[in-house]
Parts: sequence; structure tokens; C-alpha cells
Amino acid sequence: MPTAPLPRTYRVKSFGCQMNVYDGERMAELLGAQGIQPAPEGEESDLVVLNTCHIREKAAEKVYSDIGRLRRKDGTAPMIAVAGCVAQAEGEEIMARAPSVGIVVGPQAYHRLPGMIAEAAQGRRAVDTDMPAETKFDVLPARRKVGASAFLTVQEGCDKFCTYCVVPYTRGAEVSRSFSDLMAEAERLVEAGAKEITLLGQNVNAWRDDGNRGLEKLIEALADLPGLARIRYTTSHPNDMTDGLIEAHRDIEKLMPFLHLPVQAGNDRVLRAMNRSHTVASYLKVLDQVRTVRPDIALSGDFIVGFPGETDTEFEDTLKLVEMVGYSQCFSFKYSPRPGTPAATMDGQVPTQVMDERLQRLQAALNVSQQAFNHASVGRRCQVLVERKGKLDGQWLGKSPWLQSVHFIGDAAIGDLVDVDLIEAGGISLSGRLV
Ligand code: SAH
Ligand code: SF4
Ligand code: F3S
Repeated sequence: MPTAPLPRTYRVKSFGCQMNVYDGERMAELLGAQGIQPAPEGEESDLVVLNTCHIREKAAEKVYSDIGRLRRKDGTAPMIAVAGCVAQAEGEEIMARAPSVGIVVGPQAYHRLPGMIAEAAQGRRAVDTDMPAETKFDVLPARRKVGASAFLTVQEGCDKFCTYCVVPYTRGAEVSRSFSDLMAEAERLVEAGAKEITLLGQNVNAWRDDGNRGLEKLIEALADLPGLARIRYTTSHPNDMTDGLIEAHRDIEKLMPFLHLPVQAGNDRVLRAMNRSHTVASYLKVLDQVRTVRPDIALSGDFIVGFPGETDTEFEDTLKLVEMVGYSQCFSFKYSPRPGTPAATMDGQVPTQVMDERLQRLQAALNVSQQAFNHASVGRRCQVLVERKGKLDGQWLGKSPWLQSVHFIGDAAIGDLVDVDLIEAGGISLSGRLV
């Protein structure tokens, strides 16, 4: 790799989950603190950070095509750093396959980016996929610029080892950040203008303080922050929904009535093969408890179709579950065999065509569910947190307490909490009238 001047401008592209997006923001802040500026819209940057996701096949393939596309006509390329979960899982392979990549950095080591950039500028390619004892959170600069709604990573990693999933390998073991660190970062986010904080974790409800306080205690403390209006958390595992956290949905007004609780499949044999460690019945019981304390709660989930060995009848159990629960929104995916996971070598891999057909049927059912939820909201009056301008003159976009996108026309500003009557449900959003 040739030597190059230190980069003056950067661009960070994030491809993954909300935590991946959070990491992308933190990397941008870190680069900013080094005096490197975000590249102006439409202009090439000296440094490109590809913040990758490894959860499904296409995600990784996209990285290689993106690297290819960064090549200029004269054969040169900007300084390229591959970060995120593909970097963690396939660091050495990326270095071998893509000579234009100067830096590979994993999700637990990106606080070391400045040193790696200096190395790369000297013509030395740098790889760091350590999961170091010192945490990135102790080193990263304070947050300065955030929108009305901000993310806060409270917990990382996963000890659950579902048989299809790479996260335990790319993010490592479950680690919780300390209560005092989180309160300090939350205060800074509020000072920077955040009205809503979404607590993030691969298993956010497994968060524990040293003193063994559960997530509800953190939520309780955050609710006392003046200036913070809304609290959310995602993603939760059904087995970590404690009574305390469920009751928080009744007792803490700032905790929004929304729960993302992935189930993956509606059949117990499939759930066992997935090593989900919950059953359909135990999942439904949790939903029941939450609905008892918070009847208006909006429910969301993740689904995988075509897990190895899944039969037609077993898939249909998933459709039945969807109908039974009545979700407000969901994510659904075709099973993707991931290298190194037990499911990748299981018997009974389902043909793509069958997966396509199942996904279509599932998404149609989820769509019906979402439409029903949105239509049932028409006539409600609620608060909307204004997040950005809409396309039309005087139009604003924001979120209802149930995480629905709402647009309305009127006098408002980003960060306002306004009262809105929900008057019409469209495909994916609702239109509202300012009260
Ligand atoms: N910790 C969360 C999910 C993290 S990954 C949980 O357990 O719920 C986000 C979603 O990606 C998962 O819920 C799952 O639906 C999907 N997913 C993970 N691995 C997958 C794979 N190999 N193929 C298809 N979808 C997958
Ligand atoms: Fe992956 Fe399962 Fe952990 Fe979720 S709980 S991150 S699906 S291993
Ligand atoms: Fe993807 Fe890593 Fe998130 S694999 S889903 S970016 S934890």
C-alpha cells in the first residue's frame, strides 16, 4: 500500500442494526475530534469507513461491491476502513481479498481508529479485531450533536447462541456498561438536544448493573432527567423480560408503550432447533403480562422463515402466531446460513424458492396486522415527537408513542412534542392534525 497524506475528510456508511448505526455515529465523532471533517454532500472523501453488518449473506457481499465501487478511474482509491461485524468475522479474508482496504477494525476496537489511520497513511495496513479489556466507551469523545431521538448503547454482546446467529461471535460475550457511565452519557445527550433516548443492546433487557440492578432501575433513573421526555429500549430477549421490567411499563410514564420482542418462529420444535430457550407458550405469556399492565402497548418482533428442517405445517404455526398476537410492525427474514454457526451444517436446508414463498405469505400476514393496528389508531389523540421536516411545505414528520410515523402540517420545530389527532392511516404512516 502506498503512503498517503493524513485524511482531511471522512464519510461513514453504516449498514447494520441500530447498534451499528450508533457505532457509526461514535466513529464520526472520534474522527471529528481528530480534526477530520465530514465530506460535503456529493464530494469524495479522503477516508471512507464502511461500517458493516454480518447478520445475513447479502450484507457481507455488499461490502466487497462497495469497496470495488470506491476505486477511481485512475485506479487509486480513498483510504478505506472496514469496520463493524464483517470486519470482526472476516478481517483477514478482507485484507487478502481487497488490497485497497487499509484498515480493518472490529466493533470493540474502533476507539483505536486514529492510530490505525496514522499507520495506514505510512503505507502499513492495520487490522485490529481485539476485544480489549479497556472499553471503547472510556476513550471515546463526549457526544455533541444529536437529533431529537438518540441511541445509547447500554449492553453489548450475546451469550444466547441461537444456532443461526453470528452475533455472539462478532460482538462477544454479554457486557453491561455501568450505571454511572450511562447516566453521564444520557445527561450529555439531553444537553445536546435529545428528547428521546433509545437504550440499545443485543439483549438490552439482560442489562445488569454491578449491584445487580435490572434495566427497569436504569429506566427509572433516566425518567428523572429533566428535559428527557421519552425512553425506549431494544432489542429484548423473551427470557430476560423480568417482572420488574414489565411493571415499568405500568409505572414509568416516560417509558413508551412499545415492545420489540423477537420470537423468530411459532413452532416449539423449530424454536428448540434454533436454541431459542423459550417456547411459543412462554413467549405468549410474557406478551400477556405486558398487555395486562399496559393494554395499549404496541408489539413488534423478528421472524425467520425456512430455518433448516422447517416443514410447511411448522411454518404455518408462525402464521397462526402472527394472527394471534396482532403486531404493530415486524421484521421478517429468509434464513441465511452463516459460516461457523451450527445451523449452517444442519440437515434439511430449505430451498430458496420455498423460503421466498413463505416469506411472501408471512409478510402479507404481517402487513394485515400492521394495517389493522394503524387503522385502530385513527381517532386517537397522542403526542408526536417531531424528528424532521416533511417533503411538503410546512409538513413535519415524527413518531407517536407507539413508534408509528406520523406526518402533519402546522407550526412546529424539530424536538417539539406536539398534540396531534390521528386522522388517517396510510400504507406505512399516519396523517395527523395538529391540536
Ligand atoms: N438479539 C436479537 C436479535 C439480533 S439479530 C434477538 O435475539 O432477538 C436481528 C434479527 O436478525 C434476529 O432477530 C433474526 O430475526 C435475524 N437473523 C439473525 N440471524 C439470522 C440468519 N442467520 N438468517 C436470517 N435472519 C437472521
Ligand atoms: Fe443472535 Fe439469538 Fe443472541 Fe439474538 S439472542 S443476538 S438472535 S444469538
Ligand atoms: Fe449486524 Fe452486527 Fe448488528 S451483525 S445486526 S451489525 S450486531
